Amino acid sequence: ASGKGTIARALARHFRLPHMDTGLLYRAVALKLWRWGGDPGSEFEALRACDDLGVEPDDPELRSGPVSEIASRISVYPPIRAALLKRQQDFARQDGGAVLDGRDIGTVIAPQAEVKLFVTAAPEIRAQRRLEEILSRGMRAHYEEVLADIRARDRRDSSRDVAPLKPAPDAILLDTSDLTVDQAIAKALSLVEQRLAVSR
Ligand code: DC
Repeated sequence: ASGKGTIARALARHFRLPHMDTGLLYRAVALKLWRWGGDPGSEFEALRACDDLGVEPDDPELRSGPVSEIASRISVYPPIRAALLKRQQDFARQDGGAVLDGRDIGTVIAPQAEVKLFVTAAPEIRAQRRLEEILSRGMRAHYEEVLADIRARDRRDSSRDVAPLKPAPDAILLDTSDLTVDQAIAKALSLVEQRLAVSR
């Protein structure tokens, strides 16, 4: 709900590049584990869920609360991150380039990327956006709970030892807290264009 997915898709469209939402990979592992009734506390069981991983990006369950929680939990296991690494790097290195969004793209997956954008927003704003998204899909949720979930995930994603959520030293920071979707996209485009003008 920082807007990174929306911004990444808009950038991909603008530059006519393929796009990968890498969070979906972690979510797909989580969903598989959840359907199996596997234990997210078991690195071994989570790793088995990485085998022959198919991703159905339109499956609404990928974005459900329990799957989000499991995805965050299993993403701390180094073997899981290693199992998903090649797929992401192959995508990033394809001829002509690509846009990837995810927490460790600039730091781990593609440290040589031409442009890195680190998109953030205040937790309260992300909670409000997430709440509206959930309500608009006809599901129920409470602001306080959504905010608590976001805070818990932030803590886990930022404090884990492997690939913690942090900007690469050469990333451009974009805080979308006070921006509408259109403003955030316009800002991202202009930041990327500026960086490309310098790097080329
Ligand atoms: O971006 P998202 O909410 O769809 O990601 C779901 C979870 O996957 C998130 O809690 C942490 C993990 N993830 C990750 O560790 N590294 C990535 N590049 C993308 C997602």
